[in-house]
Amino acid sequence: MDKMVITGGKPLKGEVKVSGAKNASLPIMAASLLTRGWNTFYNIPDLADIKTISLLLTSLGVKVERGNMVRVNAENISSVEAAYDLVRTMRASILVLGPLVARMGEARVSLPGGCAIGARPVNLHIRALQEMGAEVELKEGYIEAKARRLRGANIYFDISTVTGTENIMMAAALADGTTIIKNAAREPEVVNLAEVLNRMGARVWGAGTDVIRIDGVSELRPVEASVIPDRIEAGTFMLAAGITGGDITVLDCDPSHQDALVSKLQEAGIGVKIYERAVRVIGSDSIKSVDVKTAPYPGFPTDLQAQIMSLMTLGSGLSVITETVFENRFMHVSELLRMGADIVVRGASAVVRGVEKLKGAPVMATDLRASASLVLAGLAAEGKTVISRIYHLDRGYERLDEKFRSLGADIERVKDKK
Ligand code: EPZ
Repeated sequence: MDKMVITGGKPLKGEVKVSGAKNASLPIMAASLLTRGWNTFYNIPDLADIKTISLLLTSLGVKVERGNMVRVNAENISSVEAAYDLVRTMRASILVLGPLVARMGEARVSLPGGCAIGARPVNLHIRALQEMGAEVELKEGYIEAKARRLRGANIYFDISTVTGTENIMMAAALADGTTIIKNAAREPEVVNLAEVLNRMGARVWGAGTDVIRIDGVSELRPVEASVIPDRIEAGTFMLAAGITGGDITVLDCDPSHQDALVSKLQEAGIGVKIYERAVRVIGSDSIKSVDVKTAPYPGFPTDLQAQIMSLMTLGSGLSVITETVFENRFMHVSELLRMGADIVVRGASAVVRGVEKLKGAPVMATDLRASASLVLAGLAAEGKTVISRIYHLDRGYERLDEKFRSLGADIERVKDKK
């Protein structure tokens, strides 16, 4: 397994271009299941998770061509089963459930099982499909869903769920009648999916708000579409400028997706300049400690919680970071402590007392966003940091070492001898 070796302490300066959003690419590729013919998608990042969903779609009989664009043809679907050995490597595989039931009248999708950051049940996805007339059984770890034709329904999600909203939007696109989703997720990735569905001929209104209306149609057609920039990758680079006291301009991003982070950076005394399709972050020599509470969009993203915690380890005082979305998303804390951070976890909150500096150390990545927080800490720390198990990083960041090297970082990806 590869490792990341970082010698920190240098302010990062320059411009960096973010890749397309992983969490928009996954549902959009799944939506191809609703169409017959070649879809062409642009700006899809070259990531492990994209490879995984490509393998999953191929296992269903779908043709997938990956290059600087991704082409997907679901003319002939030869299987409706999403097998455990694929689903367990990527929970977002659940996104084929809705489209398969809508297109094929049935689906057999492995339950994702738990993951490092929490139990992450899919009960809301299942209940919503049942309300749309699907018969759903859980058998030998698989979700078995059947419906001759789904019918429109009034769905209320008692928890705002991103992939739950996306799954039901896709299922409802071919259902008979109107579906209203209340307490829908408002993430930009949901909006991107709705745009693509409408381009396919669906009738989706209200994406980006907490009430989405979908009038079912009988058929959808293949399209060409682009994926939005990855706001979590962009946020990671913005935080890199703050933690290294550097000056980074993030290009090809959508600043309107960054309000919560921008406001926290400014509260921390870090300079932010907003442009049409770019954000420039200018670090300062001192970082004010701020409190952070994660929440569904447009709140502070849980996917940036670990990364802003790294910044707060060098804060001027005390910062309370509260994780409200997942129940176990503080695994980066023990690794940051090895680098000299001062953090105490109290239930859903972590109390971070700023220290003068972090010291490089061997650390271990535990999940995708925790790995990014360790990279940020390593870039700021004095001395050498070696991060193991960086396959976690490959799930959500494309060529991260190259991008940081272009900003002046001393970072190297090395093959593990063992
Ligand atoms: C999406 O996961 C993202 N993944 C996650 O990004 C992100 O952290 C999360 O949304 C929250 O923003 C993709 O979009 C592929 P949820 P998702 O359903 O949809 C509970 C990353 O790093 N819940 O919005 O799985 C759930 O346990 C990943 O890129 C139920 O209880 O998250 C959680 O506490 C990590 N029952 C909360 O809702 C359900 O049926 C929010 O989960 C569904 C969810």
